[in-house]
Amino acid sequence: MSAGFADGLPLRDRGRVRAWDLPTRLFKWLLVLLVFTAWLTQQGGDPWIRVHIVNGYAVLVLLAFRLLWGMFGSSTARFSAWVTWPWDAASYGFGLIRGRARPYLGHNPLGGWMIIALLCLVGAQAVTGLFTVDDNGIYGGPFSNLDFGDPTPLQSRFSRWHHGAFGLILAFVAVHVAVNLFYQFVKKDPVVRAMITGDKPVEPFADQPEMRPGRHLALRASLCLAAALAIVLGGVRLAGGSL
Ligand code: HEM
Repeated sequence: MSAGFADGLPLRDRGRVRAWDLPTRLFKWLLVLLVFTAWLTQQGGDPWIRVHIVNGYAVLVLLAFRLLWGMFGSSTARFSAWVTWPWDAASYGFGLIRGRARPYLGHNPLGGWMIIALLCLVGAQAVTGLFTVDDNGIYGGPFSNLDFGDPTPLQSRFSRWHHGAFGLILAFVAVHVAVNLFYQFVKKDPVVRAMITGDKPVEPFADQPEMRPGRHLALRASLCLAAALAIVLGGVRLAGGSL
C-alpha cells in the first residue's frame, strides 16, 4: 500500500503528507455506518432485531480491530501517538482558547480524549447488547438468558443501559461532529477531508511530520482483523454464549 504517492507525484512534492492509513479511515467510517444501522434496525420490530444483533457483533469486531490497530497500526493510529495525560489535553485546550494551539497531524490531545470516550461508549453499548433481550423476549444477545442470581441481575442492569444510554452516544457524537466541523471550516484545518483522503497539507505539526506506515501494512491489518474476529466470536463461545 502506497504511503505517500498519488497521481504519480510524491505527496510531499504537492505540499501534502499522509496523515491516516486506509484501515483507520475504513474503521472510522464503517463505525459511523454501523452506529447508524444499529439505531435503524432497533426501530423495526422483531425480524429486524436479528439484523440488529449481527450488526452488534460487527461493531464489536470493529472495536476489537481498532484496539489491536492501536498497537500494530501506522504511527498516527497507535495509542502511543494520541493517548495523552489529561493535563496535556487541558494545556492544549488553554492554548486553543488563546489561539496558540499548534496543529497536529494525528489526533490532538483533546480530540484523543473525545475518541477514547466515543470508543468506550460505543463499546459499552455493544457489550451490554450481549446481555439484552428484545421487548417480546424472543430475540436476545448470547448472554441474555444467563441468570447471575443477583437481586438486581447483571443482565437486567445491562439491558437497561443498552435501551437507555444511546442518547449519551448521540450527545458525544454531536459534540464530536461540531468540533470537527469547527476545525474544518473555522480553523481551516482540513480534519474531515483528511479522514476521507488520508492526507493533509504540510505544516509544522506538533506530533509528527508525516505518518509512518511501517512494513507490510496490509498484512498487519488483515492479521488484526482475523484476530479481532477470533477474539469476539471465540470469546462469546468460550464464555458459554451461542452465536
Ligand atoms: C456515529 C457517529 C460517529 C462516531 C461513533 C465517530 C467516531 C469516531 C472515532 C472512534 C474516531 C477515531 C478514529 C480512529 O482514530 O480510529 C473518529 C475520528 C474522526 N471523526 Fe468521527 N465519528 C462519528 C461521526 C463523525 C462525523 C459525521 C464526522 C464528520 C463531520 C466525523 C469526523 C471525524 C474526524 C474528522 C475524525 C478525526 C479527528 C481528528 O483528526 O482528531 N465523525 N470518529
